[in-house]
Amino acid sequence: MKKIASAICVSGVLAFCAGAVQAADDVGGRNLAAACAACHGTNGHAVPGMAAMAGMDKTYIVKVMQEFKTGKRPATLMHQIAKGYSDDQIALIADYYSKQK
Ligand code: HEC
Repeated sequence: MKKIASAICVSGVLAFCAGAVQAADDVGGRNLAAACAACHGTNGHAVPGMAAMAGMDKTYIVKVMQEFKTGKRPATLMHQIAKGYSDDQIALIADYYSKQK
């Protein structure tokens, strides 16, 4: 009985690993973008009235985030959020959202 249980366990872990490898190419941007999902919606599909980021132009997202960071673009809270990300991280997030349908 114990042998069967550990066999199931091992195959379960392998299946999980295979899935993780498949998603690895965009996992950096996706993980970072998860912090935006609370307001901008899962995968950038926001509720009406909120900026939907899915399919948004990559250079536009980077530009806006930089403007929030420097205070050039007025915001209620995005200026604070934008300051928490490096340029590299913003590029990853922008890349991720621009690829969402
Ligand atoms: C707490 C809610 C919240 C979170 C979390 C959040 N945003 Fe925002 N976002 C807003 C609000 C509100 C605005 C409108 C501008 C403002 O008032 O700050 C906005 C505007 C934007 C815009 C401008 C859209 C446009 O076309 O004008 C972009 C781009 C953006 N957010 C990106 C992000 C990214 C990237 C993240 C994650 C790193 C993020 N936001 C996380 C609330 C949020």
